[in-house]
Amino acid sequence: MDWKIFRSPESLSTNLDAKAAAMVGAPEGAVYTCDVQREGRGRQGRRWISEKGDTLCFSIVLRPSCEISEIATLPLMIGLAVAEALDSYLPTSPAMVKWPNDLLVGGKKICGVLCELQSKQGRPDFVIAGIGVNVNSDIALFDDEIKDRATSLFALTGKRYELNEVLGAILESVEKNYERWIAGGYPAISKAIDARSYLMGRRVEIALMNEPVSGIVRGIAPDGALLVERNDGEIEAVYSGEAHIKS
Ligand code: BTN
Repeated sequence: MDWKIFRSPESLSTNLDAKAAAMVGAPEGAVYTCDVQREGRGRQGRRWISEKGDTLCFSIVLRPSCEISEIATLPLMIGLAVAEALDSYLPTSPAMVKWPNDLLVGGKKICGVLCELQSKQGRPDFVIAGIGVNVNSDIALFDDEIKDRATSLFALTGKRYELNEVLGAILESVEKNYERWIAGGYPAISKAIDARSYLMGRRVEIALMNEPVSGIVRGIAPDGALLVERNDGEIEAVYSGEAHIKS
């Protein structure tokens, strides 16, 4: 991959920067990052708070030549790539992938992924893979409502890291995993994801538009759906939502 990194001291959202660039032809491998991100976007309309410059925020332009239906597993691939990159910083406590696209260490969130697809004539034109990693963040300064659920490399190791170096490690891992995913689809990375699946075997509840789904997580289907075994023994495929652990 030909990574080209574009840095700015400040941005509203690196996903917006990357999208604007991709709309006018930025190639695969263009990466947009900033020192301070003012209005970071999260999934389901949430905010990603990282205004103090101690979080690594970046967005990658990808142009996979695949079907739109295959894009659902791309955030899992990105989560796996970040998790593998963090292994060298966290040798004793591996980051776990929480479907659909969070990374947790010790049950607390260290990284969030927001992938946004732009399609053209029924096929993916580009995907913006936005990644936020709590690197040097002091969790005590986080808002009360997320404090207890978040962690950072600093909180876990007591050390501070060069954001640039962490970015390099993650890009190297994204390149490796993206190649595997392009060549073999989700089956090529499913074992590695299962081995790091935070939800596997756990009882969860997922709020959906009509009725919540509750049951035990049995895996992830090749199309990216979370497979939940309901109390009646039926397996239900869940395509979106937030899984809350029940036990
Ligand atoms: C989530 O946890 O809901 C996803 C958070 C994704 C945050 C990253 S930070 C870099 C990129 N730019 C954004 O505006 N969002 C993503």
